[in-house]
Amino acid sequence: MLHTGSDRPAGKPMRVRKAVLPVAGLGTRFLPATKAQPKEMLPIVDKPLVQYAVEEVGRSGIPMAIFVTGRGKDAIEDHFDVSFELEHQLAGRGQRELRRQIRAISALTQMTYVRQKQALGLGHAILMAKDLVDDEPFAVLLSDDIVESRVPCLKQMLEVFERYGRSVVAVQKVDKRAVSSYGIIKAHPVRDRSWDRRLFRIDDMVEKPAPAKAPSDLAIIGRYILTPAIFQELAATKRGAGGEIQLTDALRRLLVKEPIYGFIFEGKRYDAGDKLGFLQATVEMALKRPDLGERFRQYLKSLDL
Ligand code: G1P
Repeated sequence: MLHTGSDRPAGKPMRVRKAVLPVAGLGTRFLPATKAQPKEMLPIVDKPLVQYAVEEVGRSGIPMAIFVTGRGKDAIEDHFDVSFELEHQLAGRGQRELRRQIRAISALTQMTYVRQKQALGLGHAILMAKDLVDDEPFAVLLSDDIVESRVPCLKQMLEVFERYGRSVVAVQKVDKRAVSSYGIIKAHPVRDRSWDRRLFRIDDMVEKPAPAKAPSDLAIIGRYILTPAIFQELAATKRGAGGEIQLTDALRRLLVKEPIYGFIFEGKRYDAGDKLGFLQATVEMALKRPDLGERFRQYLKSLDL
């Protein structure tokens, strides 16, 4: 049975201070590139995927990132650490601006790491962060999804959370044929003018349905604000689609106890976990770069396509 109670809990919701970034996945879609390096370190132009996600955490005012990591992912930890040797060398060569950029990476947010010892799925990965998150609402970001927007996607979602104090998942309309790659929600719009018909109360959800069985074309994108009640549901969730413990299945259980919202964010999302999406992100972001854009545009125009 679906929770039908009041939209808002009593009192002001707690501040979201922690963001969980699951980065333990094997990255099989990008083999052989990911044989010996984390897929999260693949660059779009010159910045690793995971740095886009951590920058969004910082720009959304969340002071702590919790990485759920695994074997072969040390490069991520090193990337966000201070590199004195590199900074010293850059300073010695007079490359002050580059040195500043490299130093800034380690100051984006405070970072902690926890290991997921077995690859049992997204839901299981988030459960590994339970002790570090504790009894607080928290964000989840999947670094495969890059969102370019004026206001960071997570920050937009925090506004919804501050209003309702309930879990919020980012959603986007997708092509009906693509639904089987996503968690899909069944939902009805919230009558509140401030969200301009972009906010939904979720009635049900299903992980990676066949197109004929999908309840809508609203797909969950890799940005979530979750109440800590999700941990109890994750712990009770059995393996689902793909034999994995799915976050969507745990959210479905949570729906019985609390309302959950779906939010169509403003911005452009790239699916960098897919080869074509990765190429699209690369081309579009390179075109926007002040130092590269014009020359790259000329080059693309010169191609006989
Ligand atoms: C995960 C979630 C899925 C969501 C997707 C967004 O799937 O399980 O519900 O729609 O992220 O990117 P994955 O892409 O890890 O298979």
